[in-house]
Amino acid sequence: MFDAYEIRKDFPILNKLVDGKRNTYLDTAASAQKPLEVIECVTSLYMNEYANVHRGSYWLSDRVTEKYENARKIVQQFVNAKTSDEIVFVRNATEGINLVASTYGLKNIKKDDEILISRAEHHANLVTWQQLAIKNGAKLKYFDLDEDGGFNLDKFVSKLTPKTKFVAFTAMSNVLGTIFPIKKICELAHKNGAKVLVDACQYAVHKKINVQEFDADFLVFSSHKVYGPTGVGVLYGKYDLLCDMPPYQYGGDMIEHVYYDKTIFTTPPARFEAGTPAIVQAIGLGKALEYLMKFDFNDIEKHERELTSYATRKLLEIDGLKILGTAKDKGGVFAFDINGIHPQDLAFILGKEGVGVRTGHFCAEPLVNMLGYTSLTRASLGIYSVKEDIDILVETLKKAKNFLS
Ligand code: ALA
Repeated sequence: MFDAYEIRKDFPILNKLVDGKRNTYLDTAASAQKPLEVIECVTSLYMNEYANVHRGSYWLSDRVTEKYENARKIVQQFVNAKTSDEIVFVRNATEGINLVASTYGLKNIKKDDEILISRAEHHANLVTWQQLAIKNGAKLKYFDLDEDGGFNLDKFVSKLTPKTKFVAFTAMSNVLGTIFPIKKICELAHKNGAKVLVDACQYAVHKKINVQEFDADFLVFSSHKVYGPTGVGVLYGKYDLLCDMPPYQYGGDMIEHVYYDKTIFTTPPARFEAGTPAIVQAIGLGKALEYLMKFDFNDIEKHERELTSYATRKLLEIDGLKILGTAKDKGGVFAFDINGIHPQDLAFILGKEGVGVRTGHFCAEPLVNMLGYTSLTRASLGIYSVKEDIDILVETLKKAKNFLS
């Protein structure tokens, strides 16, 4: 039985007071809290089993190397990749996108080719393609969404042209909460001859990833959003595509042989993991994914669906509150405005009551501006969120509104 109240017991920080108040953590979309087993795993590695990987011929190094490579296998299982060689450890999802743009993109996307992304992209999946287009003379195009923030197939298809070489989109918007139909988008993009990158940062905690079923060419997510440590993320890439990509960075571990006048690079994934990687963080990520995979994703989805509709109903009880993003298929992310009250003022009062939310443009400035705002307030849910979190949020918002109006 999925029981969010039981799950909360696994997350020590949720059971601590913040500034004397209950920790009402509603900022999981920015970064998720960590279960005790991840914290203990990381601590224990530094205490008992730490050394560098792929380098030493001694017990500690062998042991850590085995754990690091096992974490890659756990990620493979989590995304259902064909082989763990399709899993590259990067710093975060942002680095994964930059890696693809700087290697696959620079090599294969040429002048006048088109890159298609959605209007709802996070800066990581916008600026990166915008800058590639500036560099190589390609054209960056955007597909629009429905009024409610929902995905619209016709609007997407209308932007595909024979010149579309690459499609990149968020599987779940960090502002609107919209869930995108990954498999359908990949299918249509492929029919059009384009490759696809899926930004699964928000999606990964809410719904099951299956790269083979999606037929995604590339997919990225960050560890810290899936209850794992910061400093590590995942790039999945189809193996033949990875093999055809030049290195992203140069250094140790990504080489086969080095001579004074040339270098033979090694095969993926090591080709893309130059230098000492985030060893402990990657192993911690493996532990976080094992923790997450103990649950049935259908239960996670059901819990979040129920809580999302409860939160929507309760938030809309507040006079003047407008939720941006009300698509039918949406996850537990609520960006809102209350009669133009400054989000920083709201967040300050919420913070005093132990309620953690994010304000601003959420690293999606063009989208928030297009919606008619420069700044919004956002509450977001995780596996450990409960009705009480929503009730405290809503009660505190009502008080804040009265005070600030
Ligand atoms: N992209 C993260 C967010 O939406 C940091 O808050």
